[in-house]
Amino acid sequence: PGEREENETEKGLRIADRGFLNTAVIKSKITHIDGDAGVLRYRGYPIEQLALKSSHLETAYLLIYGVLPTKQQHNVFQSEVHRHSAMHADSEEFFRSFRYDAHPMAMLTSAFAYLGSYYAEANPSLEGQNLYTTGTPESLTIMDKQIYRLIGKATTLAAMAYRVRQGREFVTPPHGLSYTGSFLYQMDHLGQEDYRPNPVLEKALDVLFLLHADHELNASCTTVLQTGSSLVDPYSAIAAGCASLYGPLHGGANEAVIRMLISIGKPENVPSFIEAVKRREKVLSGFGHRVYKTSDPRSFIVRKTADEVFKITGKDELLETAMALHEAAMKDEYFIKRKLAPNVDFCSGLIYRAMGFPLDFFPVLFAVPRVVGWLAHWRQMMLQEGGVKIWRPRQIFVGAAKRDYVPIEERS
Ligand code: ACO
Repeated sequence: PGEREENETEKGLRIADRGFLNTAVIKSKITHIDGDAGVLRYRGYPIEQLALKSSHLETAYLLIYGVLPTKQQHNVFQSEVHRHSAMHADSEEFFRSFRYDAHPMAMLTSAFAYLGSYYAEANPSLEGQNLYTTGTPESLTIMDKQIYRLIGKATTLAAMAYRVRQGREFVTPPHGLSYTGSFLYQMDHLGQEDYRPNPVLEKALDVLFLLHADHELNASCTTVLQTGSSLVDPYSAIAAGCASLYGPLHGGANEAVIRMLISIGKPENVPSFIEAVKRREKVLSGFGHRVYKTSDPRSFIVRKTADEVFKITGKDELLETAMALHEAAMKDEYFIKRKLAPNVDFCSGLIYRAMGFPLDFFPVLFAVPRVVGWLAHWRQMMLQEGGVKIWRPRQIFVGAAKRDYVPIEERS
């Protein structure tokens, strides 16, 4: 009594919004989601049109700079991304320093932070000024350079994380291939001079990359912005986002789906699994979404892409179980009532598996394209009107009231 409560405030009403269910922290022009209508648009363009007609790199330009590039802008962007894709030879030692069985997301997360140590000009705090928030031509050029580097090197770092575990030599990014073509080349190349990835698989991965490029303020993007709001360098902010994406409720879901399907085994076991989910003993991975309350529009494109891939690779043995699970869940009152439908990751893992990627590499295949979205939001925040305000949420304090310290010998 007489003391001010921690959660009283003179600045207005403080609302406890656990999990940010209804808190907007920024105004954005990048990605629009209508969760009730199942709509997703990048800079106004429907995801269905982009998946059909665009490429991951062109869409990256769109997300970051707000317009579809002209031919010349596209060529410059592509060649800058490629020019910055190679890694310093010392980084080979960095990758070899990990344990033989290190998770590739742990390697990728560390590698993004490690990258920051190479580029002093990217760290505004070292220079003692808010480099990125000034919007001057010089600062925009420096910002672009970090963007090219991060997009270009994301595939190289991912391929290095993949190859080091297999004891294979690293491969320099090749010339003349698409973004995803170059990635597959760096992953698969076994020394054959004329090696080229299968064009259908290359295209399928490009579509998946495009679909994963952005999804507004999901957990990882929010982490990038929260970290970036302290005006740290973009490599550190991206490393933080990558760590957030690692979790099974976010980027780890595609891996969790396959583990779940393997554990279910056959379609006959689906009903008992569904019952276990309803008893809350299991989670139906790849279902549900914070924003989509009808369907995730990306899930239909992924399903179509899966069919293209299976024509080349043959059908995945888990496909039937996945379809039985899908059908059972969509008919069940528990899922209908809670508006739970498949999300982008319900089928993406089946494609990655068919293409031969190891299970624990799946989240990496989400993180690499999502670098684009993270950078688009980071750039937008840096250049927003009024500058950057550090993200510092408040809490509702529910702990002990003031009490006096008790010496250890007097404690019972
Ligand atoms: N399986 C079973 N029940 C579920 C599931 C699921 N996958 N998802 C939600 N529910 C239930 C919840 O238990 C809750 O039930 P209740 O109201 O009786 O308590 C209700 O549906 C509402 O769910 P919330 O947990 O409140 O939804 P929230 O928005 O917090 O979580 C999330 C969304 C994390 C995606 C959740 O649906 C989930 O855990 N899904 C499985 C993991 C997954 O697929 N993640 C990928 C997300 S998409 C992405 O990152 C690309």
